[in-house]
Amino acid sequence: MKHNVWKTRLGFYFVAIGSACGLGNLWRFPYVVGENGGGAFVLLYVLTALVLGLPLLIGELMIGRVMRKPVLPATRDIESRARRENETFPFSALGKMMVFVTLLMIAFYAVISGWVLHFGTQFLLVTIGAAQIQEISGMTALLQNGLLQLGLASVHLIITVIIVVKGVHEGLEKWVGALMPLFVILLIFMISQTIQLPSSGEALRFLFYPDFSKLNFSSLIHAIGHVLFTLSVGFGTMVTFGSYLRDREHIPTAGFRVTVIDTFISLFAGLLIFPVALFVSQVPLTDPSLLFESLPIFFRDIPFGDVLGLIFFISLYLASLAATIGLFETVVSNSLHQFKITRLQASWGVAGLIFLISLFPALSSSFFEGYRFFGKSVLELFDALIVSWILPIVALVTLWTLRRGLKEKEKEAHFIDPLKVESIALYPHWKFAITWLVPGLIILGLILQVF
Ligand code: PHE
Repeated sequence: MKHNVWKTRLGFYFVAIGSACGLGNLWRFPYVVGENGGGAFVLLYVLTALVLGLPLLIGELMIGRVMRKPVLPATRDIESRARRENETFPFSALGKMMVFVTLLMIAFYAVISGWVLHFGTQFLLVTIGAAQIQEISGMTALLQNGLLQLGLASVHLIITVIIVVKGVHEGLEKWVGALMPLFVILLIFMISQTIQLPSSGEALRFLFYPDFSKLNFSSLIHAIGHVLFTLSVGFGTMVTFGSYLRDREHIPTAGFRVTVIDTFISLFAGLLIFPVALFVSQVPLTDPSLLFESLPIFFRDIPFGDVLGLIFFISLYLASLAATIGLFETVVSNSLHQFKITRLQASWGVAGLIFLISLFPALSSSFFEGYRFFGKSVLELFDALIVSWILPIVALVTLWTLRRGLKEKEKEAHFIDPLKVESIALYPHWKFAITWLVPGLIILGLILQVF
């Protein structure tokens, strides 16, 4: 297979940031902050992003660029290379784990993207005058309607396939690049509105005043898991993107930029949602419905709320589409290496498989309503499995692969840029992080969670 490289330098940034910023920032971050008590967790999250997320993100990009392949063939090559040097660790397991969690994730993500489509459509109807803004139905009605959720998730999958089929350049670079700036501008404009609500003081205190007594035993793993989720680390996506990255691009700088931008977008999401949620007060801050229950109420009460609501949900949808494309591309790029099939066949095949998996989260509060696992619904189980268990464990295996699967010379060559003095100084710190700090934090988080 001919190897793709990003057409432009910005191509990588657009796609990496487009894949990082998605539902994780706008939808998941606020309610996870709510669940873990606010400010102290926000602080923990930002620190975790920098000391744990960033080193791992650099590591994943590095595996991709060193091996110049998606994660399945890359880890297979690492394994056979290592065999020759009597290292017996089954590195290829990393590739399989990543593709597995990516499949689960797309199914789960498609269902939530379907929720976004649902609200977007309702605002469209209001904007064109076909419905009244008061008639917008909340989450309860949607959650009870399993078939609607499944239908919306399928629409989302079909749109994704249509874009991915066109390939990396036509599909990814062009689409995602155009959408991102638009979204950021809209977000800032909306914050300028919500911050004028009388509840904004309370919201700022909740978000930024750290009360450490609010943290619990699971907070560390929640922070770690969410950082991996939001930075797209642990899915092999960054391996694929790294494999398309040019040689002269400096991986640590690229990773740092993606981390900082992604973290800011999450903080923005908090600034947007908490003033509204606290203002309306009947919305539970700890619930996955937080975004969808609070924002429509805000749009209902402001001038031009219908149009703004429509623009917001369109942008949110596009952000989740960009993220889904990143996930989807990971599975497609791997299967193109694995089997002799065309991109078209791979894309539809993957979509079909994901449709079957998505039956579970989509029907979670209808058909599977009676099923509870450790007190969690099927949808919550997907979330908990991915975020609190599989991603942290995949991260541990990634760290081991970086340590024993890549050669010292390779790591050095892909971290250090002789023209950037700081990269020479930072290299030992990165090595320390991936050898001791990051694995230590993950193991501690997993142990605390069991309590
Ligand atoms: N990071 C994305 C988000 O926060 C999710 C994602 C994970 C996208 C992995 C692509 C790959 O929504």
